[in-house]
Amino acid sequence: MAGESFTPVQYEALPGPRLGIGVLGYGFMGKVHSNAYLKIPYSFSQPAAYPDLIAMCGRDAARVADLAARMRFRGYYTDWQQMIRDPDIHILDNCTPDNLHHAPSIAAAQAGKHVICEKPLAMTVREAAEMLEAASKAGVKHMTCFNYRFIPAVRLARQLLERGVLGQVYQFRGRYLQEPGHDPAAPLEDVWYASGTRSGILLGIGSHIIDMARFLVGEIVAVSGLLRTWNTTRRSRAGATETVTADEANVAVVEFANGAVGTLESSGVATGHKNQHTWEINGSKGSMYWDLEDPNHLYVYSDDLAAELRGFASVSVTTGAHPLQVLYLPPGHNAGWEYGHLHALHHFLDCVAYDKPVAPYGATFEDGYRVQVIMDALTRSSQDGRRVTLTY
Ligand SMILES: NC(=O)c1ccc[n+]([C@@H]2O[C@H](COP(=O)([O-])OP(=O)(O)OC[C@H]3O[C@@H](n4cnc5c(N)ncnc54)[C@H](O)[C@@H]3O)[C@@H](O)[C@H]2O)c1
Repeated sequence: MAGESFTPVQYEALPGPRLGIGVLGYGFMGKVHSNAYLKIPYSFSQPAAYPDLIAMCGRDAARVADLAARMRFRGYYTDWQQMIRDPDIHILDNCTPDNLHHAPSIAAAQAGKHVICEKPLAMTVREAAEMLEAASKAGVKHMTCFNYRFIPAVRLARQLLERGVLGQVYQFRGRYLQEPGHDPAAPLEDVWYASGTRSGILLGIGSHIIDMARFLVGEIVAVSGLLRTWNTTRRSRAGATETVTADEANVAVVEFANGAVGTLESSGVATGHKNQHTWEINGSKGSMYWDLEDPNHLYVYSDDLAAELRGFASVSVTTGAHPLQVLYLPPGHNAGWEYGHLHALHHFLDCVAYDKPVAPYGATFEDGYRVQVIMDALTRSSQDGRRVTLTY
């Protein structure tokens, strides 16, 4: 670099611990997580730790090399088994499809790496239990990436509930709606829940709303569910007719340990909805609702106000009085969807660097396992037409 006034940056002089990161998968979530790691050093006045982007891993060498360079990783692997042996990597961040959560997460934990795994934790209850057992046995930190817990408005809702602002919680109603399968003529490859791992809507986005219900209201003890598939065949791009068994939508009635009841709904055929995730809670002293399409606002109603002032207040959760703010966004300068991942991954770095517990604000593999038990029970309830009492 020319110019006498140029001074090179001393990256190693940044204060605070450094943690080596290995990101497995360079698709949607691989990019979102890498983007969060890149932002962490300047988003907080004192980041808990500096993520050192050691390696990305994917099977296609040319594509992973390109992405790793653009996202400023030091290198890349084409074999995850080799990546988890890299001594510079402290954290495996598993951003692969649902059917590859199990093996690499267990192998990484057994190799002494801390593990973040995308949701749903696994394909089955058994896989999830094995992942939880392996991580617990290895004594590593583990987190299931239920990112919506880390949206500031959602965290504020949790804090208000902890303070008893709503009184006794009676009801939770949550919905997660998308539309990719609404057109029967849509090719299989365009319908994410029916192609690839064929996980279905309940595992794909129902898992988020179940985690949200548990995070805000508490443990779920009984469920009744109904899963539906209308488009039982789809044409692939190549013209073949493929059978579809994955659920396209589901509805559930849930009972919480504290006596509250809830209705949960997730859909991949909610025509017109791109990604609406919304919930409402009603209690003896107030109510709250939140909508991902308006993520910076929490709507709060409280009986504590004088009768003539009561109404749902639209709280802009963007000021210094609110949780999970970032350094460079002044009040009212709205944060986007990806900030949930930024806060989630920063939380995990903090837990690893300072040996703090991931729970209760982060979802552990235990939470991922419990969500899996609930999804399994809903599926059985739908098949058998009966209410299922849960044992974890
Ligand atoms: N929390 C969220 O907001 C959110 C949103 C979307 C998806 N997800 C979850 O994230 C996970 C990944 O979803 P996505 O949308 O990023 O999928 P994607 O298909 O875009 O990316 C998956 C990546 O994994 C790679 N991969 C697959 N098999 C591999 C192997 N054997 N070795 C190395 N790499 C391999 C693929 O090449 C690809 O790069 C899924 O479990 C999904 O449910 C979470």
